[in-house]
Amino acid sequence: MSEINIAVIGAGVIGKRHMQEVANSDQCRLVAIADPSPEAEHHAGTLGVGLYKDYRKLLDTERIDAVIVCTPNSTHVEVGMACIDRGIPVLIEKPIGDDLATVRALAEAARSARVPVLVGHHRRHNPMVRAARKVISEGRIGKLVVANIMCLAYKPDDYFVVPWRRRTGGGPILINMIHEIDLIRHLCGEIVSVQAVSSSRTRAHEVEDSAACTLELENGMVANISLSDTAATPWNWDTAAGEDRQLFDYRPVPTHFFAGTNGSLSLPDSTLWSYDGEKGRHRPIQDERIPMEEENVYANQLRHFIDVVNGVVEPLIDAHDAVQTLATTLAVVEAARTGQKIQISADIRFRAGDAIA
Ligand SMILES: NC(=O)c1ccc[n+]([C@@H]2O[C@H](COP(=O)([O-])OP(=O)(O)OC[C@H]3O[C@@H](n4cnc5c(N)ncnc54)[C@H](O)[C@@H]3O)[C@@H](O)[C@H]2O)c1
Repeated sequence: MSEINIAVIGAGVIGKRHMQEVANSDQCRLVAIADPSPEAEHHAGTLGVGLYKDYRKLLDTERIDAVIVCTPNSTHVEVGMACIDRGIPVLIEKPIGDDLATVRALAEAARSARVPVLVGHHRRHNPMVRAARKVISEGRIGKLVVANIMCLAYKPDDYFVVPWRRRTGGGPILINMIHEIDLIRHLCGEIVSVQAVSSSRTRAHEVEDSAACTLELENGMVANISLSDTAATPWNWDTAAGEDRQLFDYRPVPTHFFAGTNGSLSLPDSTLWSYDGEKGRHRPIQDERIPMEEENVYANQLRHFIDVVNGVVEPLIDAHDAVQTLATTLAVVEAARTGQKIQISADIRFRAGDAIA
């Protein structure tokens, strides 16, 4: 197939990462960038591609086959809708948006216009997540009972110079915890209720700096997530999984624990624990490493997106699926605000497993 023409809207931290993957791919080429910032002008100059300050002008001027949206959370729906209106397949960074009504409208618009939308929950493209999903779905750890997940990192002060990251619509629940919620849905099943506590006492931003939540799954599993962007630890996926070693230190410590009645699995070290024969805490429990090759998850995601654009596969996480991840994440915000247990709406049209062949 011939190379596809890609435009990137939003040339900040993750936009540059996507552009790097596009540059390394022989299946696509970057044709233009849209971003109003002076830094983007400089970046476009170094790459030798066109720069538009207004993304609509880019969409109406350039011949593009696909768009990657990497703007702040609150703008994803507006920019995504502009692509859908023009029939252009789009990869929208996570979260799909920050408001349920508008993201549902986007998902419906994409469905009725038959424009594919892939959402940037990049961990689903990680081979260790694929392997974990296989282990769990094959019943190798038995009936799922509990998950315990740490998302504890220290973000440096200059990270917060960018205003949207410390205001409502940003914050670590919507920026980071959403990855954990999507991972739980992807590996373990649908979440039906949420309880949560959050605190903004350390950073004193409009949004939380720390939170803890307890999730109840449809299958009876209970999952806990601990979150902070002001905790000096290696216990977070970005540090432990090594997906982006240009940006983050790499310390491969276990941070995610999935426990079942016959065994347990920790990630990202991909260690499977089980008994040989009779089960019981008095008996020796064996550990086994799941073997796998390392892969570049962002390159995997881009290759998958190109297959989506070419009509070869359905998106691994489409707009409807991402709406459900967002709905659950916003329920954490709401549960922490009100102190109430929040039931996730029963009108879930999408089930987590449906997207996977
Ligand atoms: N999947 C991942 O690994 C990952 C990692 C980081 C960020 N993200 C997501 O990507 C998005 C961007 O995050 P970031 O950290 O790169 O942000 P950032 O602030 O570094 O970059 C955002 C860029 O968008 C530009 N922008 C703002 N409004 C625009 C508009 N209307 N049109 C065009 N450009 C516009 C800004 O000038 C800026 O350059 C967020 O939604 C975030 O949650 C995903």
